[in-house]
Amino acid sequence: MPSTDLSFADRVVIVTGAGSGIGRATALAFAEHGAHVLGVGRRAQALEETARQHPGVVPLAIDVRAPHAADTVAAAAADRWGRIDVLVNNAGITALMPLAQATAESITDLFEVNVTAPSLLARAALPHLREHRGSIVNVSSTYGRRPLAGASHYAATKAAVEQLTRSWALELAADGIRVNAVAPGPTESEALGAAGLSPEMLARIKQQEADTIPLGRRGEPHEVATWILRLADPNAVWLTGQILAVDGGLELV
Ligand SMILES: NC(=O)c1ccc[n+]([C@@H]2O[C@H](COP(=O)([O-])OP(=O)(O)OC[C@H]3O[C@@H](n4cnc5c(N)ncnc54)[C@H](OP(=O)(O)O)[C@@H]3O)[C@@H](O)[C@H]2O)c1
Repeated sequence: MPSTDLSFADRVVIVTGAGSGIGRATALAFAEHGAHVLGVGRRAQALEETARQHPGVVPLAIDVRAPHAADTVAAAAADRWGRIDVLVNNAGITALMPLAQATAESITDLFEVNVTAPSLLARAALPHLREHRGSIVNVSSTYGRRPLAGASHYAATKAAVEQLTRSWALELAADGIRVNAVAPGPTESEALGAAGLSPEMLARIKQQEADTIPLGRRGEPHEVATWILRLADPNAVWLTGQILAVDGGLELV
């Protein structure tokens, strides 16, 4: 149920990675609070499943790495609804990749999805965000600031996301555009499953994570989504350049 203090009525929001996990929960939460949401991702069927859950979500199947994808996404939202108020750069990929196995191609892949695509999308949305004093919410990770043995390049992409967040906040403040990020801890989604682990290894890692998190479990996508909405809240006018850990206290240990 929408909470009463948040309203995105008639605001236009772009959410990347809206076909699953945190992105789906975020797209639906914005729609439940009155927004028109463009849900972006590669898998049309997954996006349609999100859109089926709320008429406020319109799917756009596109690979954010494709040439001109950023302009296509921004134009799809602006042409349809005449404005863009919020960009949520959520689409991301994880790769377990010990240094000994790193290749130029796999490093480039990670940076293209996690760093380059959000940057180009932010650039494409910029004129619209300026016009409506909108905001950007990026999605980092616990490992944007913590080291991660065996997935150093993933961690490096998220560290980059955090520096982009702070630097854009400073650069765009004069335009009235706020830029913040969430740094989720381990959260139930397709992300870990897509990292190529065996079911046994997956279960072991999930249990280890739950045991380490002070609140005693992994997070749920809607528990992250609610903070993405709060950072994007048009009433949160005095908040910019912040990275909010949404992690059951993991940052503290
Ligand atoms: N789950 C966690 O424990 C956790 C923790 C910290 C941070 N995060 C971050 O949270 C964000 C969301 O991840 P999630 O956990 O919700 O995992 P997820 O379910 O795997 O979601 C990732 C989304 O990104 C989309 N995506 C990936 N590559 C894309 C591309 N080239 N073009 C367009 N869309 C693309 C995927 O859709 P398609 O495959 O259909 O394209 C998918 O919907 C990511 O940035 C992730 O790094 C997750």
